[in-house]
Amino acid sequence: MKCIYPGSFDPVTLGHTDVIRRLSRMFDEVVVGVLHNVAKKGCFTVEERLEMLAEACEGIPNVRFVAWNGLLASLARESGIFTVVKGVRSGADIENEMGQLRANQLLCPEMETLLLPCSPGLEGVSSSAAREIAAFGGDLSSFLTPRTAARLMKKLENRP
Ligand code: PNS
Repeated sequence: MKCIYPGSFDPVTLGHTDVIRRLSRMFDEVVVGVLHNVAKKGCFTVEERLEMLAEACEGIPNVRFVAWNGLLASLARESGIFTVVKGVRSGADIENEMGQLRANQLLCPEMETLLLPCSPGLEGVSSSAAREIAAFGGDLSSFLTPRTAARLMKKLENRP
């Protein structure tokens, strides 16, 4: 059985890698999909996000990374994988995911979305928090791998 784990991964966090590691034990293949979130202005390019995902997930078996410029429902149809997993940290995340999930049910009734609670201690980890902490030179060690943190700091240094 295969699943899609979609997200914007801007950048991949320790919360994402925890979910990917857990999914790799549950599924024969995990397709990590880098998709566009129209509500968010991107920091990294899609290519950079894919590179950082591959680095951060080194050693995790059964994982494949794809970029998809379109609807999640069309990625499900195109790949023939109709099990989608989203990680959730809070009631607010569940609320938000329920909205997307309900829309996806209308778009693609054969697709099932499963919500996976984050592991204890990772509730405060998010890409947006990591970007904000990096902007103020804070400690990213609870949020990102050292390589991802270095890339984020470099990205912000080179910003106009
Ligand atoms: O990591 P994120 O930003 O919470 O991921 C959200 C993402 C990218 C998975 C979501 O915005 C998405 O599925 N985008 C593709 C467009 C789509 O299919 N939207 C769902 C119908 S409302």
